[in-house]
Amino acid sequence: MDMRRRSLFAAAGAASAAAVLGGAATANASTLSAAQPAGPAGLVNPNAPLRDLAAAIGLRIGSAIIPQDINTPSFAAIAGTQLDVYTPGNEMKWQVVEPTQGVFDWSGADNLVAFAKQNDALVRGHTLCWHNQLPTWLTTGVSNGTINKTQLLDLLQQHIFTEVGRYKGKIWQWDVCNEFLTDSNPSQVNPNDFWIANAGPEVISLAFQWAHEADPHALLFYNDYNIGGEDGSNAKHNAAFALVQGLLNDGIPVHGVGNQGHLDTQFGWSPQRLRQDLQHFASLGLKVALTEVDVRTFVDGPTTQVPTNSLAQFAHPFEFTEMLKSVLQVPEAISFTMWGFTDADSWIPGFFKGEGYGTPWDVNQNPKQAFFSLQSELVLAAKGAPRRVHTRMPRP
Ligand code: G3I
Repeated sequence: MDMRRRSLFAAAGAASAAAVLGGAATANASTLSAAQPAGPAGLVNPNAPLRDLAAAIGLRIGSAIIPQDINTPSFAAIAGTQLDVYTPGNEMKWQVVEPTQGVFDWSGADNLVAFAKQNDALVRGHTLCWHNQLPTWLTTGVSNGTINKTQLLDLLQQHIFTEVGRYKGKIWQWDVCNEFLTDSNPSQVNPNDFWIANAGPEVISLAFQWAHEADPHALLFYNDYNIGGEDGSNAKHNAAFALVQGLLNDGIPVHGVGNQGHLDTQFGWSPQRLRQDLQHFASLGLKVALTEVDVRTFVDGPTTQVPTNSLAQFAHPFEFTEMLKSVLQVPEAISFTMWGFTDADSWIPGFFKGEGYGTPWDVNQNPKQAFFSLQSELVLAAKGAPRRVHTRMPRP
C-alpha cells in the first residue's frame, strides 16, 4: 500500500503533492489547495519550501553548507529558501580554524554564521573533538612527544573555549564529540582513537563540560554514523546508548545524539530500527537529530551522476523519506540535516569511487524525486506528526 503510494509520487512528479494527498486516505483534498497558506488551522501549502512545511511541526530542515554554497547565487538561493539549519561542512573544524598554532582563520565560519542570520536559519556547530581534520601542528606535536597528555587536554580546552566562546549564543546545536566508537560487534569507545589514546577516556566528559561552560545555552550532541539501524546487529547503537547513558549518569551536560544517516543503496538498512533507535536515545531524556543525511548509489560518472542501476530511482527517494518518516514519528527529533543538498558539490564522488547521486538536487541543481517525496511527507506530517518541543534556542 505504502509502496503503491510512493510509485504514484514517482510518476506524478513535481506538481503532484496536492493531487497525491487528495488520494491519501487521511488527507482532505479540499484543505490542501496550493492557494492556501499555512495558517492557524494547521493548513499547509503543498508547494511550500521544505523549511516552511517542516515549521508546521517545529522541525528544522538543513544541510551541510560549504563556501561554494554561499558564494554561488543559485546554490545560495536553494539553501536560503528551502533550509533553515546549516552545518559548516568543514569551516568549524580545528584544522580550518587554527591551521598554525595561535593563528586563527574564522572567515569560513563567520561567513556561515552570517549566511544563517541573513536567511533566518539556525546553525549546527561541527565539530569540536574528532580524530579527523586536526591541524598538523597538533598531531605532529603529539606524535613527536612535544605535546604531552596534560598539554593536549589544555589545548583542547583552549580550543573549545575559543571556538564555542566566539559563537556563544549563535549556535543551536554543537557536535561536541564525533565518531568515537568502533565499527566492531560488540562496539566500544575506540581505544585507538586519537583523543582516547593520547588524552585518555575522560576527554569525552571534559569536552562536554568545557563546551557547556563556554555556552550554557547551546544543545550539546554526541554525533556518529551507523547508530540508527545501519549495521544489522545494532551493536554500534548499543555502544552509543551506553556511552551517553554513562555521561548522563555522571552528570555530564549532554543534550542530544546525532545520527549521521549516510546510506548507500547497495546495503541493507532498517527504517523501523532507525525509529526505535531514535526513541531509545530519546528515552534517556535526550534530543535526537539526523545530522548528515545522504543516500549514495553507483553512477555513470562524477559530472553527470546518473544512476547505473534503474532501481536507484526508487531506492533513493524511498530511503530519504523513510529517514524523514522516522524523524517525524519521534517528537524529540528536532532537525533533519542533509550532508550537502546538491550533487553539484557533494562530497560523495570524491570519497566513494563510482558513486554519487546522494542528495535531493541533481548536478544542475534541479530537484529530484527525493525532494518531492520529502515535500510530500512533510505536507502529510503537518496534518498529524507530533510537534517538536524546543527546550533551548540561541539567544537573539
Ligand atoms: O581545503 C583543502 C584544499 O586546500 C586542498 O587543496 C584539497 C586537496 O585535497 O583538500 C582540501 O581539503 C579537503 C576538505 O574536505 C575541504 O574540501 C580535504 O582534503 C578532505 O579530506 C575534506 O573532506 C571532508 C571530510 O569530512 C574529511 O573527513 C569533507 O569535505 C566533509 O564533507 C567530511 O565530513 C564528514 C563529517 O565532518 C563527519 N562525518 C562524516 C562526513 C563525511 O566524511
